[in-house]
Amino acid sequence: MTPSTLKRRLATPTAMADSPRPAPRVERLKPFLAMEIMERAFELEASGSRVIHLEIGEPDFPPPGAAVAACEQALRDGETHYTDSRGLLALREAIARDYDRRFAVAVDPARILVSEGTSPAMLMVFSLLIRPGDEVVLATPHYPCYPNFIRYCGGEPVFVPTRPEDGFALDPEAVAAALTPRTRAIVVASPANPTGAIQSRETLEALAGLGPTLVSDEIYDGLVYDGLGTTSASQIADEAFVLDGFSKRYAMTGFRLGWVLAPEWSLRSLQTLHQNFFISANRFVQHAGVAALEAGAAEAEQMRAACEKRRDRLVVGLRDLGFGIPHSPQGAFYLLADARRFGRDSRALASALLEGAHVGTTPGVDFGAAGEGMLRFCYAVSESALEEALVRLEEILPGLERRAAQQGDP
Ligand SMILES: Cc1ncc(COP(=O)(O)O)c(C=O)c1O
Repeated sequence: MTPSTLKRRLATPTAMADSPRPAPRVERLKPFLAMEIMERAFELEASGSRVIHLEIGEPDFPPPGAAVAACEQALRDGETHYTDSRGLLALREAIARDYDRRFAVAVDPARILVSEGTSPAMLMVFSLLIRPGDEVVLATPHYPCYPNFIRYCGGEPVFVPTRPEDGFALDPEAVAAALTPRTRAIVVASPANPTGAIQSRETLEALAGLGPTLVSDEIYDGLVYDGLGTTSASQIADEAFVLDGFSKRYAMTGFRLGWVLAPEWSLRSLQTLHQNFFISANRFVQHAGVAALEAGAAEAEQMRAACEKRRDRLVVGLRDLGFGIPHSPQGAFYLLADARRFGRDSRALASALLEGAHVGTTPGVDFGAAGEGMLRFCYAVSESALEEALVRLEEILPGLERRAAQQGDP
């Protein structure tokens, strides 16, 4: 991919003028810009450049040693066949015990369906809930896949803006005002991607009380700073769908393992969806999941503590460079910073940083119109990589700022 191809890809939604064309439900989807940046970064690396990847949401920590060992052992033991479509009972029981440990909530393992990452679980939940024309309310800036999944399932996302000045807190009254007779669900993520915001227990309770089904994406739970805790929808509403997985807090992105904790009424349908779409999650990977839950806490805590330090460093470093960060993010491993003094078009800016400084960042507009003028930085990378990224940015930003000023941009 040349720089101009990247520019074109960042600039246009799916470009497929010639027939045969994909079905409309696919044409409606937008490319994931973080992936587009990463794929161009891989090309730069293939031609000898050293890119610092702050664009992609992936911890550069190893997975818990016990998870790797359990996976290897399971392979040696011949644990290579399908499992029950809902997942191994041992894993579902371990997940239930983990809810007890994390949130002091008793969860019936029968309400857990194990999937190949949180993403398939999300697709199944939206497939289950959304009828053509249904609306799903969510905060913005938002994880880019939510509206794509919602639209794919025939629904319409309805965005409730959150603001950097408020730490991207979601206002339940604004959510209530966005409800219509067609609202089927409310999606909440805490801690959130890309904002790192944590929503309070009161907010989650208020959202759960509004009527539509609550879908709570808790994949970043555990990656929380400043001594804060989190609330799980599992503590509040038996009728909520809770999405979670091993990718983030156990640094197990490539294992592809997640789950949904679902209400009683939906279990049989989710099982049917899973049987048909995916059959079962990888058997040996499910053993790794049990081991991560039972023996991975210390390593997960090390990663959390390291991320907290890196967040602190990046907040200071980016503020010094002139980025706007009114509140430190309190969870996940992202920082969404106001970059307008360097250019209002976040695609163009991310592209300039990648091509000119070999620093990968995600254009804020990937997270909705509310994210335009911002860049997302992932700080789950080594301290030395962060330091080098800051040095490289310091070299390139003054030129971009001057250009933006000449164009009357800021
Ligand atoms: C908010 C959020 N939910 C879900 C996912 C998907 O995670 P996975 O499919 O790896 O479990 C991601 C990945 O970045 C995410 O940021």
